Amino acid sequence: MSEQPENTPHTAPVPAPAPDSAGEREQHDEQRAQQRVVRLGSQRFAPGEGPLPDPAGSHYERRIRSFQPRRSRVTAGQAEAMLKRWPDWGLDIDGKRVLDLDEMFGGLPVVLEIGFGMGEATAQMAAADPGTGILAVDVHTPGQGNLLGLADRNGLTNVRVANGDAIILLREMLPPESLAGCRVYFPDPWPKSRHHKRRLIQPDFLTLLAPRLAKGGLLHCATDWEPYAEQMLEVLTAHPDFENSQADGGYAPRPGFRPLTRFEGQGLDKGHVVHDLLFHRR
Ligand SMILES: C[S@@+](CC[C@H](N)C(=O)[O-])C[C@H]1O[C@@H](n2cnc3c(N)ncnc32)[C@H](O)[C@@H]1O
Repeated sequence: MSEQPENTPHTAPVPAPAPDSAGEREQHDEQRAQQRVVRLGSQRFAPGEGPLPDPAGSHYERRIRSFQPRRSRVTAGQAEAMLKRWPDWGLDIDGKRVLDLDEMFGGLPVVLEIGFGMGEATAQMAAADPGTGILAVDVHTPGQGNLLGLADRNGLTNVRVANGDAIILLREMLPPESLAGCRVYFPDPWPKSRHHKRRLIQPDFLTLLAPRLAKGGLLHCATDWEPYAEQMLEVLTAHPDFENSQADGGYAPRPGFRPLTRFEGQGLDKGHVVHDLLFHRR
């Protein structure tokens, strides 16, 4: 599988000679960032007006990524919402600064949602619970535009859309104990065994997440892929920083606040069984 960032098709090609030294490389990266124009449908966004194609790509090492490069078209409506709302409600995960979530969300407790897809469930949860801020992260540009459109049309001021890799967001940009919770709904199952290393829910991920969660903060995972559910239960149960909310040590009943998601619907249509896992940070 290619390691190309999924947004590459939106990037205008910028031919430039390869830099030699680290300093030249940095300058070269900056120049490329300045020259980038993101194309969304018929819209073109200059830097600052819309999401960058690969916001942290030039600053951090390539690594095994949990997401798949996708060439997806952005509709005119998604592009319009992006143009209108990205400057205030969007942020690129460039790994270059630590976020002040109090300032971003006006002091609301903040839940991180990793991999919101098209964002319908995110918008429903934001509408149902205006007292909680949702920092929603995905690499999928049409979904970002869709969620911004839903937030705009429904007056949801408690949602922010982060573009890029959740791992870099956690590692470089979120302060200790800044999150009230984390939601990972139907993460890519990566069914082939040679791809299992790409699954998000792994011991290293939990070790990265735990200190960013407030004590008692809730990690909520859901999946319709049975072997992944088993892996989630195993690694979460074994991790010293997390405690199962279920006295029997098993899966949780689906909590009322989690709406049906798009991927869940597809899984149910195929006859899959859905499992929720609710673990607290110790
Ligand atoms: C299978 S989809 C599920 C989407 C949605 N939660 C649902 O249930 O309909 C998984 C999503 O996670 C995103 N994703 C995977 N790894 C990610 C990462 N490291 N950072 C940000 N988004 C990621 C993918 O781009 C994709 O949109």
